Amino acid sequence: MQELSIRSERFTDSVIRRMTRICDEYGAINLSQGFPDDAPPVELTNRLAEVAADGPHQYAVTWGAENFRNALAKKFKNFSGITIDPQSEVLVTCGSTEAMIAAVMTVCNPGDRVAVFSPFYENYGADAILCGAEAIYVPMRPPSFDFDADALEKAFASGAKALILCNPSNPSGKVFSLAELETIARLAEKYDAFVITDEVYEHIVFEPYQHIYFASLPGMFERTIMCGSLSKTYHITGWRLGYIIAPTSVVERAKKVHDFLTVGAASPLQEAATIGLEFADSYYTDLRTHYTEKRDFFLSGLDKLGIKHTNPQGAYYVLVDISEFGYESDMDFCIDLAQKVGVGAVPGSAFFNEEENRYIRLHFAKSEKMLSKALQRLASLPERLGQRNPS
Ligand SMILES: Cc1ncc(COP(=O)(O)O)c(C=O)c1O
Repeated sequence: MQELSIRSERFTDSVIRRMTRICDEYGAINLSQGFPDDAPPVELTNRLAEVAADGPHQYAVTWGAENFRNALAKKFKNFSGITIDPQSEVLVTCGSTEAMIAAVMTVCNPGDRVAVFSPFYENYGADAILCGAEAIYVPMRPPSFDFDADALEKAFASGAKALILCNPSNPSGKVFSLAELETIARLAEKYDAFVITDEVYEHIVFEPYQHIYFASLPGMFERTIMCGSLSKTYHITGWRLGYIIAPTSVVERAKKVHDFLTVGAASPLQEAATIGLEFADSYYTDLRTHYTEKRDFFLSGLDKLGIKHTNPQGAYYVLVDISEFGYESDMDFCIDLAQKVGVGAVPGSAFFNEEENRYIRLHFAKSEKMLSKALQRLASLPERLGQRNPS
């Protein structure tokens, strides 16, 4: 038999989605894969019912239905202050997942380098490999997850053609400050690099932090390939709707990549989701309050249990420090956690390029009832997963 491709050998299946399967096997509460248990806004589901009867049911224009792109351009202008041409500067994709890989494929030739902050959302490593690119990791140091500008400069100086910037960041919960974004912009300019941003959590940011669109920095729209998504903002992770916003020259190329990867995102779902893109600002303020309450509830619960954790500034994840349990493998810890405690988590090592065995990631995009139940189960951690070794 012929050998299968080296590209498909060089990365594992998604550890996040593997943990969901493990949760299902043990009946654990799934705080591993980050999807909410909130229903989508009723306006979207009502519209979906209408669309089921009236259509469209055939392909949309490959780069996205016109009314969806128009609504997206208006929303983006409202939040970022940037005017874009919905005809030439937007590409609708099957989630940010497709947007990200299409962006890397649009920028990178085989052998090119792409800089990635670590810890990172696990897709980026696979995206680089699938595109034949080499990821150069730049550490963000816990617990503040700040980065060393010299280390970033080194990555650019080594030839990185693009930086992948996840802001707000999964799994660290970091929201990049203006000063940090300006440092990145200065280096991107100096080394003539693209910045591929993943901004799926743009609306899940906790006071006093504010989301700043990298493309809104002076001179940066030309270098930015922004990947966004409706998954988290409207609780519709299963609808698979995302997008790229970038200059026309980039979008023209990305359209071709997308056309042959997927042809297009589901047309009935684009139609039904357009109403969400037209929501008033109060929707996003309420979303922020909603997740702030969940964060406060979950983190204070962890504090009461004496469980050490990071303090997210955005997104809906928390890294819990498990070093005191003395496990050699964070994966083994997560399997025991699912089986013996009944809570699903993702081993932190799935997100770090550095040797790291200290963290597990939990998400708090669940109802208060479910989070309470998870906290009750976590109370049995010391008893079920061994003696703590207080440091
Ligand atoms: C940082 C980040 N990017 C992308 C995605 C996936 O987004 P989508 O559902 O739009 O593909 C996720 C999902 O958890 C994520 O956390």
